[in-house]
Amino acid sequence: MTQHSPSRGPLHPSAETAEWWRSAVIYQVYPRSFADADGDGIGDLPGITAKLDHLRELGVDAVWISPFYPSPQADAGYDVSDYCDVDPLFGTLADADALISRAHELDLRIIVDLVPNHTSDQHPWFRRALTAGPDSPERDWYLFRDANPEDPERPPNNWESVFGGPAWSTTPDGQWYLHLFDSSQPDLNWANPQVREAFEDVLRFWLDRGVDGFRVDVAHGLVKAAGLPDAAQTTEEMQGDGMATGAAPYWDQDGVHEIYLDWRRLLDEYPGERVLVAEAWVQPYARIARYVRPGEFHQAFNFSFLDASWDAPALRECIEESFRANDVVGAPTTWVLSNHDVIRPATRLALDPEHFTSQLGAAVPAPDRELGARRARAATTAMLALPGSAYLYQGEELGLFEVLDLPEEVRQDPTFHRTSGRRLGRDGCRVPIPWERGAPAFGFSESGAAWLPQPAGYGDLAVDQQKGCGSSHLELVRRLLALRAERGLGTGSFDFVDPRPDSSAEGSDAAAAGSAAAADFRDGSTGGTAAGPCADILAFDVTAAVGTTRVVLNLGATAWPIPADAEVLAASDPTVTDRVPTDCAVWLAIG
Ligand code: BGC
Repeated sequence: MTQHSPSRGPLHPSAETAEWWRSAVIYQVYPRSFADADGDGIGDLPGITAKLDHLRELGVDAVWISPFYPSPQADAGYDVSDYCDVDPLFGTLADADALISRAHELDLRIIVDLVPNHTSDQHPWFRRALTAGPDSPERDWYLFRDANPEDPERPPNNWESVFGGPAWSTTPDGQWYLHLFDSSQPDLNWANPQVREAFEDVLRFWLDRGVDGFRVDVAHGLVKAAGLPDAAQTTEEMQGDGMATGAAPYWDQDGVHEIYLDWRRLLDEYPGERVLVAEAWVQPYARIARYVRPGEFHQAFNFSFLDASWDAPALRECIEESFRANDVVGAPTTWVLSNHDVIRPATRLALDPEHFTSQLGAAVPAPDRELGARRARAATTAMLALPGSAYLYQGEELGLFEVLDLPEEVRQDPTFHRTSGRRLGRDGCRVPIPWERGAPAFGFSESGAAWLPQPAGYGDLAVDQQKGCGSSHLELVRRLLALRAERGLGTGSFDFVDPRPDSSAEGSDAAAAGSAAAADFRDGSTGGTAAGPCADILAFDVTAAVGTTRVVLNLGATAWPIPADAEVLAASDPTVTDRVPTDCAVWLAIG
């Protein structure tokens, strides 16, 4: 299994040749919760600009910023009412320009979010469609349908909103409009060429301002099956209670690819390798790979990694299948453990796998915080060595946990309200991040205001508490990123190795593994066993610019002895010397 990538050139955004995105570490900023410069309790663009040095020091290559456009904020900005401006909550266009230019000075690339599946119901396109009335060209920008002739009370089909409840709402004149998300997020009609043209203008608007790419929201949803037929399954049957992934007449229709071929052509007219990243919750792997075929997206989020249960065979299968599917189309794999839609890994990894991508029901018992933090460190350590591009969601580098006990009255996620609290929704991973333990709002906002209350436990995890402290989560991530750059990881060839320990290790718990196994290990041969005493170890080699890095992640109960001739480069557990304990990952220099 091999993921090759040319070595990366200088990071200056005008560099035209380097395929920087193949191995980039991309940090997601959720603007309302990152840093608040104007004191209103909501993070903003000047706040982000002021903290870019922190991201530079951390060692990431690019920053993806969730939507900051004018919006009624019914879905935290994913309900856009003007694609070519900045919401006053977050600043001005001049602030966006300043952010982009400061990022480029620091050799950080900027990826902005594009939300093409739906607009806000306050967008002038939707307002004029409502005014123009049935059968008008204005209505053809959206998916309006007449009421069911047999029962005007029933929506035109049985589709359900991802956030709960029906995917249709009525207008005063009796027509219905489709919204796969909240009723304030009407779906656009991508069969209408005017919609396509309008979005090309939006792409150009931001490309002309210097952005380095777009993360495309709900990339798998833009085209709906002709005739809008009933879905065979309910949303819950398809997705448990997380984001929809399964087959449906509104997900992953073949027609979406045509749109992205056009967009890619447009991006390629610009210098500097501007990128398209697909948010496409589709299965199986081969279907995701269709989004990253030559001429389409550069990357697609690999949610299977985030979704894999905490056991070696599941992770191994995910890694194997991810490479297999992406290698066929020559695209890099991405690795994602977290984002603003899922439970933070420091909490999720201590939960039963059934809750991994769900938005947690109120009845789920609080998970063990220490266990979750330990596993999150190990997961990040394993992830950052894998060939391909990796994503970090703000606060992941601090080991922040999900805030499960937010009071009902502060919750804002439409999921919570549309399911009458049956699903807690995503507010718990969106709480403003802590910068300074002793400062108001933990340094998020000088005024002390924060749009969601921060738990007391965030103080100990603040940046100032972790910075310079060798054993902290933050310093671990910084070290991993420095080593990644130094050793050329993110690129290179990849092989699973037999995880059986060197039987010569004194006092080894697993010495019984035998000398043949030890020889396998030293030879770095492939083909780790899926059963037997080592089924709980995930071990792989990445050979890149500087030697071979062996990664060993212990998911079992028995400590794994580190061979005497291996140098420990990094360990997710700072106490590691000669063994890898349970829920720990190490990077070893081999040979
Ligand atoms: C975004 C969500 C958003 C939804 C609707 C997504 O997948 O990541 O935060 O609620 O699209 O725009």
